[in-house]
Amino acid sequence: MSSISVLYSEEDIALAVKELGEAITGDYMGKKLLAVCVLKGAFIFASDLVRRIDGDVRVSFITAKSYEGEYSTGKVSVSEGVGFSDIDLSEWNVLIIEDIIDTGRTLLELKNKFSEMGAKSVKLAVLLDKPSRRVAEIAPDYRCFEIEDRFVVGYGLDYNENYRNLPYIGIVSQ
Ligand code: IMP
Ligand code: MG
Repeated sequence: MSSISVLYSEEDIALAVKELGEAITGDYMGKKLLAVCVLKGAFIFASDLVRRIDGDVRVSFITAKSYEGEYSTGKVSVSEGVGFSDIDLSEWNVLIIEDIIDTGRTLLELKNKFSEMGAKSVKLAVLLDKPSRRVAEIAPDYRCFEIEDRFVVGYGLDYNENYRNLPYIGIVSQ
């Protein structure tokens, strides 16, 4: 049986998300903001974060999956996305919302995708940042917590599709 130890409680997360929402509110005041939730991991974080942004926000979704190659050359596949096909991205400031930045490959791919589509600006908001594992040259513009090289679950993050529903962020121990 695995047991989970709490790394960040519901209260810790709520406070950090509130503070992040306030910072984003200030930075995007009077600007057209398109929030892009990266599925599946960011679904809970994004739903809490957009409710802490005071102002007009358009919400959309995209799916990203990362694959590790034999020699650790990571490959990321990204879906078409839902919720922005009908708009001119050159008018919109994109905020990509992701659960965790690890090697950085996923967010680099997504950032390039939206830049190539002509978005007015592209920024990154993450719940968790594991800087020690970074491979791609990329850093989040907004983050709630910086963590060490530990595998975490809960609040949207999974281990083999389990634990996404935990209300807190935890570490699995065997
Ligand atoms: P990156 O492309 O290496 O930055 O990978 C990011 C993706 O890896 C995230 O979207 C997660 O799906 C997954 N991931 C990385 N670290 C963890 C973790 O500690 N727990 C759960 N998923 C993780
Ligand atoms: Mg993910």
